[in-house]
Amino acid sequence: MNVNTQTEVMKNEPSNGKGAQRYLTIVTVFIITLLFYVNVKSGNNFIRVEHPSPFRTQIFNITIIRKGILIKPQKVDYFICPTFVGRIGNKLFLYASSYGIARSKGMKVVINTNCELLQYFTLNADIRKDTSICHSRNVKTIKEEHSAVYDKRLLDFDNTHNVRLVQYLQSYLYFDRYKEEVRNQFTFSDEMIKKVTLLLDNKLKGYDIYRNSTYHKNHKYKYMKVYNETTQKKITLIGVHIRRGDWAKYPDAGYNVPTKEYLRKAVEWYQSRTEHLVFVVASNGMEWAKDNMPKNITTIYLEGNPAWVDLAAITLCEHFISSSGTFSWWAAWLTGGNVTFFKWPAKEGTRFRTAYSKDYKDYYYSHWIGL
Ligand SMILES: *[C@@H]1O[C@H](CO)[C@@H](O)[C@H](O)[C@H]1NC(C)=O
Ligand SMILES: *[C@@H]1O[C@H](CO)[C@@H](O)[C@H](O)[C@H]1NC(C)=O
Ligand SMILES: *[C@@H]1O[C@H](CO)[C@@H](O)[C@H](O)[C@H]1NC(C)=O
Ligand SMILES: *[C@@H]1O[C@H](CO)[C@@H](O)[C@H](O)[C@H]1NC(C)=O
Ligand SMILES: *[C@@H]1O[C@H](CO)[C@@H](O)[C@H](O)[C@H]1NC(C)=O
Repeated sequence: MNVNTQTEVMKNEPSNGKGAQRYLTIVTVFIITLLFYVNVKSGNNFIRVEHPSPFRTQIFNITIIRKGILIKPQKVDYFICPTFVGRIGNKLFLYASSYGIARSKGMKVVINTNCELLQYFTLNADIRKDTSICHSRNVKTIKEEHSAVYDKRLLDFDNTHNVRLVQYLQSYLYFDRYKEEVRNQFTFSDEMIKKVTLLLDNKLKGYDIYRNSTYHKNHKYKYMKVYNETTQKKITLIGVHIRRGDWAKYPDAGYNVPTKEYLRKAVEWYQSRTEHLVFVVASNGMEWAKDNMPKNITTIYLEGNPAWVDLAAITLCEHFISSSGTFSWWAAWLTGGNVTFFKWPAKEGTRFRTAYSKDYKDYYYSHWIGL
């Protein structure tokens, strides 16, 4: 029912007496009927409906009459506003957890067009140039207690207003129910995959390795499939991320950086289960990484790339050795396969330790292997 269009048509009719007049009458009656209908409805502009989620939801359909023109009914949703801070790993947690919470409430995440994640991923969010709705007075702000502990209070609101979630939301429990949806959104573009495939090809040159196809065809999120040129045996790529940087620089902050011992144990964990391994290492402390990775294995080092490129490249591996920090966490999650992690990332008795639960179970999946 588009009154506008009909009015247009009417205007464009050649004025040929009766025909036009009859047409005008029909359209007028139509409009009057429509306006009457809308008026009857507008006594009850807000219509309460049941949302098909297990949670009770209100969605408002508002019919707006402006200058006698009927505007298409608009659906007014309520939003969850993540409060983005930090770098890649922080942002991925903030988006994924906000998405999971929003999804469970029948709400949408609203993000600004300048959000870094949008340069790499297609997100199922309400993306706006103007996100002032996240800062208006009637937005409810809910603060987490600990940054890496699943906090049920964060879900304790009803979805009839906009909500700002503060702040880190570093627990997979916020989004695990929708992990497939999150994974689909966190998928790199074909262009990026092509780029990092070439990058790995170049690194693997000289190692007697060839790539058969770009991806493993049976694996939904595709990893590189490579073979030993001489033996034709399949080679398994193990991604490794070694967090250094600020974690290594400020030991008093309570950070435990992965040790040489951990790297050895993790490498051996894979060696004892799989043959023909190649380790693909990314780190923000490459010198230390090179000095401390076990020596008698085939290792390639990703150097001089933006962190996003490193992330895309290591996630083409089949399994993962993670260390500490959220970048490592996400590299592991996106890679899938087997994941080892360094236990534990926080020094006992420090303030940083309180970010995590006692057993770290809200942060690390129970099927990940702590070494
Ligand atoms: C609200 O609007 C949407 C989209 O216009 C429509 O699909 C839905 O049926 C409407 N709900 C009610 C209760 O009118
Ligand atoms: C690539 O792998 C497939 C099986 O995965 C094999 O049939 C094919 O011969 C291989 N191609 C080359 C060029 O090695
Ligand atoms: C490929 O196989 C040859 C022969 O067994 C071996 O010497 C070489 O180290 C292998 N290359 C890799 C990268 O595993
Ligand atoms: C590789 O090095 C480790 C010590 O770093 C040693 O225990 C192991 O025997 C070595 N393996 C081979 C095949 O040389
Ligand atoms: C390692 O990954 C394989 C699949 O890639 C899975 O079947 C196996 O259970 C995993 N092992 C562990 C200890 O997680």
